[in-house]
Order: sequence, then C-alpha cells, then structure tokens
Amino acid sequence: MTKREVILAETAGFCFGVNRAVKILNEQIEVSCEKGDRVYTLGPIIHNEEVVKAMEEKGVITCDDLNSYKNMQKGRVIIRSHGIGEAVYKELEEMNFSIVDATCPFVKKIHNIVSSVDDGTSIVIVGNENHPEVKGIIGWCSNRPVIVDSVENAEKKLESLEKNIVLVSQTTFNSNKFKELVEFFRKKEYNVIVYNTICNATRERQLEAKQLAASVDVMIVIGGKHSSNTQKLYEICKKECQNTYYIQTLVDLDLTAIESAKRVGITAGASTPNNIIKEVHDACQN
Ligand code: F3S
Repeated sequence: MTKREVILAETAGFCFGVNRAVKILNEQIEVSCEKGDRVYTLGPIIHNEEVVKAMEEKGVITCDDLNSYKNMQKGRVIIRSHGIGEAVYKELEEMNFSIVDATCPFVKKIHNIVSSVDDGTSIVIVGNENHPEVKGIIGWCSNRPVIVDSVENAEKKLESLEKNIVLVSQTTFNSNKFKELVEFFRKKEYNVIVYNTICNATRERQLEAKQLAASVDVMIVIGGKHSSNTQKLYEICKKECQNTYYIQTLVDLDLTAIESAKRVGITAGASTPNNIIKEVHDACQN
C-alpha cells in the first residue's frame, strides 16, 4: 500500500503579531507574579480556546467588558494584537489600570493612517464591522468611517461618501475581495488612495493554502471557530478542494474522511499553536 503524503503548509500557525502578543503576555505573567499584580487581557489574547485556557490557569483574567473593570482589583491590562480604539486606552487609564500594549505593529500602522485623514475625505474600511480589529480601527478614525465587506454592501453605502476616499483593509481580509472593492470604487470615479493593509502573513498564508488545496485530495484547516483568518482560509481552500475540513483540534477530525486520500494538505490560522498542528499532522500520517 502506498503511504499517504501529508503536506503541512509552511505558513501554518502563529503569525508574527500573535507570537509577539503571547510572548508579551507570558513576560507580564512573570513580572506580575513577582510583584503580586493582577494580569488582565481585554478579550481573549488570541482566538484559540486552548491557549486562552492555559493562560487562565496561570492566573490571567480574560475580560472584554470595560464596565466590569470598574469593580476589579487594579493591575495590568494587556491589549491583544487586534488593538483597541483610542477612547478605550483613556478609559482604562482613568480607572488607574496600567496598560501593556501588544497591538500588532501592522494594525498600529492602520491606526496611524486613519487618524490622520483630512476633513472632507471619507475613510473606507474594508472588513467585518463586528471584528475587534475593525472596531479598534474605527476608534482611531479622524472622520466617521464607512465599513464595507462586499461590492453589494459598498453599493448601498455610496451616498454617504465624499468624492475623495482613503481606503484601508482589515489585516486578515481576503485579498481578492479587497481588489474587487478597490476596482469598484475606481470605476465609480472616486479619487481613491489605497492602503493595502492586508498583512503579508495573511496574504502568504492564503496563497499557499490555495495552491496546496488545489493539489490534494483532502484539505484540513485548523483554527479557533471565532478566528476570522481561519474562516477565510477555509473558504479559500473549499473552493479549490471539495473535501476541506475546518477543525479546532484533532478531536474534531473524523479520520475516516482521509482514509482513502493519497495526498492530504494541512494549514492553520494565525492563532493556532504548534502543538495542535503537530497532533493533527501526526494523526494524518498514521
Ligand atoms: Fe499582525 Fe499580521 Fe498577525 S497583522 S497579528 S502579523 S496576521
């Protein structure tokens, strides 16, 4: 019997920003242990339940409700890689919390762009309006932004736009959909200044996943169910390979699905720890 080939995408797993945020949090846990401070994260540090659980076992308190902080013992609040709006920093400071900022520098760059847009120019954010990163970006906009995630959606929002537009993207947005939207605004004759702020890590991961999915019998995408970059990876892979499965950990994988596959591809979202990827990889090889 020929052995099954299992190919793991080189770009699978933690990206630079997530790695950095987890490292910052671990350092803060150590410092706070020495000083007896409480450590909070404003929302889960990454979209991965296993990692969040492990951090909570080390004493980290995960809380994304700003109001609740009013009644909490003072300590350090770690800002995750998605970033937050300007007003949220102020509120935390007013409540006397120390802030440790683990916002990904690529997200910070978007904050800088949208905070310096002139009056009379509209800000268009290409992304999902409910995503924490987008909420954070909205919180830095110098003018009221318009959020779009599809051409249909953009069509409905045209009336509220000025003729000059500054357009940025959520870092994890699908690059093809982003290009479609840029084209759409250009065709409508808006003066568009485009900042393609889709992160390279995302672009490379998406491209590699697409190519890999097109060359295998079964494709496995690993990541938290709330992770938007994993959901997008799944969409991309599913288009190329009908037998694409979205799992959080090995437990979700029905191994019978790969029984007759000669080539299996694996990729993982930016918040998926290596140990989970390795477990899946090993199980597929057996
Ligand atoms: Fe940053 Fe890109 Fe990761 S924006 S958090 S390095 S996906």
